[in-house]
Amino acid sequence: MNILEIQNLNVTFDTEDGQLRALRDVSFNVPEHRIVGIVGESGCGKSTLINSILGLLADNGQVEKGKILFEGQNLTELNSSQLRELRGVRISTVFQDPMGALNPVISVGTQMLHIQYRSSLSKSEKLDNAAEMLRRVRIPDRESALTRYPHEFSGGMKQRIAIAMAMMMEPALLIADEPTTALDATLEVATIELLQDLQQQIGCSVLFISHHLGVIAELCDDVVVMYAGEVVERGTTRQIFYRPMHPYTERLLQCDPAGQSERTRHLPTIPGEIPDLRLRTPGCIFAARCHCREDICDSTPPEVEIEGQSARCHRLVA
Ligand SMILES: Nc1ncnc2c1ncn2[C@@H]1O[C@H](COP(=O)(O)OP(=O)(O)OP(=O)(O)O)[C@@H](O)[C@H]1O
Ligand SMILES: [Mg+2]
Repeated sequence: MNILEIQNLNVTFDTEDGQLRALRDVSFNVPEHRIVGIVGESGCGKSTLINSILGLLADNGQVEKGKILFEGQNLTELNSSQLRELRGVRISTVFQDPMGALNPVISVGTQMLHIQYRSSLSKSEKLDNAAEMLRRVRIPDRESALTRYPHEFSGGMKQRIAIAMAMMMEPALLIADEPTTALDATLEVATIELLQDLQQQIGCSVLFISHHLGVIAELCDDVVVMYAGEVVERGTTRQIFYRPMHPYTERLLQCDPAGQSERTRHLPTIPGEIPDLRLRTPGCIFAARCHCREDICDSTPPEVEIEGQSARCHRLVA
């Protein structure tokens, strides 16, 4: 079963220079108990996608077409209070900056009590839950941690507390947007292992956004590759890393910083730039930068599927 199904999603933003088509015909699934990674360069629409799911698009943005099915329910048809009911309970989030999720003037314990406001448990039972959650994210000295304020913890610990809070209500789906990007390499590995453990214990699905291919390879079961607002390829992690079908994926892997020795916070560059999303140029979205480009690429490429892996590229049609 799929926890989340994105079907032919089109999202636009109204701008002074015309309509910007930020997501075009985006489709993919997040199956039960699986970790799905989304990878793509800056501006490819990762945040727009998450905001569409959470019902938090900017005022000038709208879902033009398509469905976002969460546990079978189309989120694009829910009103803001119905979406608020889902957020933090059935769908929770972890972002790059943990302070976005933590209130600086309220103790960690009190914040963890607040998260459980719907529960009928007693206060001491809720505090036990909070301490247990801190144990699961490996925060030492939990009783005293509950009385402390977010700024009293290091960056890595703050992110683990934010993860504990996100997992507190045992969501069906955790959306993690670059949660390890601000951490150093050792902490990044520890946080990835922690997410993996918690995902297995709680049995939730995870939608994990990162531009760091090594992290995606380590953590994810499936990968969705996005380019300039479109899904150009999707498949299992193994398929994407060992047998990429789309030239864009090939290029990403070739310049993967993990294959080089130096650590980087940015995707390695592929010559050229992401196209202007306000212009409606026909044909393959990657054509202008593609090393395999041919005349046929001026027409819309078909989606080709092989053993569950799929990509949009003319080259795949023999
Ligand atoms: N409110 C907005 N109004 C107009 N354009 C927007 C708005 N929000 C995003 N965009 C545009 O939509 C496209 C996708 O942006 P988005 O922030 O989703 O990319 P991203 O993949 O999250 O990038 P990054 O890796 O830098 O976070 C970009 O061209 C961006 O400029
Ligand atoms: Mg973003």
